[in-house]
Amino acid sequence: MRLIFRPIKRTFFYAFLVSLFCLPALAATPSEAKIEQLLSKMTITEKIGQTNLRGRSSRATGPLPEALKQTVIDGKVGAFLNVMKPHERDELQRIAVEESRLGIPLLFGRDVIHGFKTIFPIPLGLAASWQPELAESGARVSAIEATELGVNWTFAPMMDIARDPRWGRIAESFGEDPVLTSIFSVAMVKGFQTDDLSNPTAMAATAKHLVGYGAVEGGRDYNTSLIPEGELRDVYLKPFKAAADAGVASMMTSFNEINGVPATGNKLILKDVLRGEWQYDGMVVSDWDSVIEMIAHGFAADKKHAALRAADAGLDMEMTSDTYELYLEEIIAEGKLDIKQLDDLVRNVLRLKYRLNLFESPHRREVKESSILSAEHRQKAKEAALQSAILLKNNNSLPMPKKGTVALIGPLAHAAHEQMGTWVFDGRAKNNITVLDALQQELGNENVIFAEGLAYSRVMNHDGFTAAIAAAKKADRIVFVGGEEAILSGEAHSRADISLPGSQEALIKELAKLNKPLILVIMAGRPITMGNIIDYVDAVLFNFHPGTMAGPAISDLLLGKVSPSGRLPVTWPKSGAQAPIYYNHKNTGRPANDKDFVGINDIPVQAWQSSLGNDSHYLDLGFRPAYPFGYGLTYSQFSYADLKLDQSQIKIGGSIKASAIIKNTGKREASEVVQFYIQDVVGDVTRPVRELKNWQKITLKPGESRTVTFELQTDELSFHNIAMQEVVEAGDFNLWIAPNADSGLKGHFELIE
Ligand code: NOJ
Repeated sequence: MRLIFRPIKRTFFYAFLVSLFCLPALAATPSEAKIEQLLSKMTITEKIGQTNLRGRSSRATGPLPEALKQTVIDGKVGAFLNVMKPHERDELQRIAVEESRLGIPLLFGRDVIHGFKTIFPIPLGLAASWQPELAESGARVSAIEATELGVNWTFAPMMDIARDPRWGRIAESFGEDPVLTSIFSVAMVKGFQTDDLSNPTAMAATAKHLVGYGAVEGGRDYNTSLIPEGELRDVYLKPFKAAADAGVASMMTSFNEINGVPATGNKLILKDVLRGEWQYDGMVVSDWDSVIEMIAHGFAADKKHAALRAADAGLDMEMTSDTYELYLEEIIAEGKLDIKQLDDLVRNVLRLKYRLNLFESPHRREVKESSILSAEHRQKAKEAALQSAILLKNNNSLPMPKKGTVALIGPLAHAAHEQMGTWVFDGRAKNNITVLDALQQELGNENVIFAEGLAYSRVMNHDGFTAAIAAAKKADRIVFVGGEEAILSGEAHSRADISLPGSQEALIKELAKLNKPLILVIMAGRPITMGNIIDYVDAVLFNFHPGTMAGPAISDLLLGKVSPSGRLPVTWPKSGAQAPIYYNHKNTGRPANDKDFVGINDIPVQAWQSSLGNDSHYLDLGFRPAYPFGYGLTYSQFSYADLKLDQSQIKIGGSIKASAIIKNTGKREASEVVQFYIQDVVGDVTRPVRELKNWQKITLKPGESRTVTFELQTDELSFHNIAMQEVVEAGDFNLWIAPNADSGLKGHFELIE
């Protein structure tokens, strides 16, 4: 086999992505001359000031402290986060531009993650829609709302590849796949920034967390990541590259170390890859205190050493800790860091401020009429929630008839705060519509008998069971809305056991005894393992916390106004003990398979010690997940037939087309996510068993069929070989047009030189 060497480059695929979503090279191209001019006037204190990102508690009361104002007057701060009172922001900006010596405006950052006041589904939910345009429209709505109050920089999108559902921050991710994540990340960047950052409703986006944060050991937050460089480049860095190509304004380093070097002081990532290979000229900010956390990591001896490590690696702005402010001047005076290195950091900060047009237009935009939580914004949030719900099981009990009575039980049926999910600093429960609100509206109060059973998801006692069972007895069918409270996922909220918390399972089992249709609706921040509970219920409609409009969306889905069309953006394990778990794994030398599987109860007592018959699986859990990546049902069925490839051999540099006929064989209009996977059978380094390359979400009427065609450029088959060259190798490839990562029509082609 011959290796085709290609220099590290923008692949066709990403060129394609860029053409779809990309911002025409940050239209407000800043004048480098202006940056140089300004830089030449700056004192070293003012330069260091630009690298400081200071926080203020959003709960702070009383007037702005005089000392804080003085810091701004002295040019000792470049940006703030969490200043949430608009008049305080206005005042600080006024001081920066009118009272500081050089009048350099401030950045105001905020975690606007999946909505500002109008809350959209958590990012994992947005990814479950497989409709990047919904992520873009969510980000657009967020930017319009947040810029109205003066936020000009958001710490989103998060594009960490997450293969472990125990990790709480999987909620903020787009899941486990690098292509899905890249496309959703780029869509969100476009939604936040538009194609012109100087647009008054544009907000600078942040690609975070650079990098490998999703690979933390055991799913424990802040932990260690060990990722071989090839995989780092082919999987974990891929979304960041796509975002860089799409003009993302800034990036945030992650808390974790990667292969022994904390991300915040990582020269390979920040210098060689980002600035060298990618020529990225946006700004790089640390995560909260991640500069000083390099001391605990054992990578820096003290704060001064941490400042040196971070600045030398090329970190432009330090979030909340103050090592740059305290030590950079001294470090430069001692000759350990060249002033030119500081100048480079400052250039990147100033460039962002020019791109945002802050020098010309530093203040919050004036609005005649607020669009916050407008009907249009809420409708967009509802659409995203509708398209994100995943039907995991259905024994003909969904959609439910409008006639008859419903017992609505469960801790999330009327939990306006919880349905928003993690990272919603600005969302408020009072603005949200719950499932109870929506079903009462649809069916009439008298037809919805509500008893939560458990006041919140973790309740262990059974005190509310009697009332819940009594309510269920009176109704024709039961809808149990459970899951996880918002606080059980997100940063620092990893779980080892990812089943339904509290005594939810016990209550479901009691309700099942009534022999009435029992529908389980789950809202959660991660896949929730269901064990044998799945056998007690007739249907499961799963929602990653859907946000403000959870109620109306779930009600429409339950009543069949819309057929569910979400598909899993992550592999769904049977138990947290299977994690990490992901579809694009390697084959191993002893791939698990159904034929050879030996279960724990198949082993004779006092069996002779032998590995024969066993392969890479667990005796007690097998090797399959509960549901594969890409999986989801709807109220209709689809058939896949007639796979055709336009060639069986392709030359490197060319492309191949594959098509199949997808038919709606059921009785309702519904959407299908048609997925396109490949496998590179033999490689210089081993390749995954499948890799998603593309998909199309199509809607078909009953009986309708459509030929779905995918075109694959051979550059999309590239990967990093042992020598860390990005290569496309000649050889055999499998491909699938499939409803999920574990099935589909299989074809084959050969790639030739
Ligand atoms: C820490 C989190 O890791 C990061 O995602 C967030 O943007 C910052 N804190 C700021 O709140």
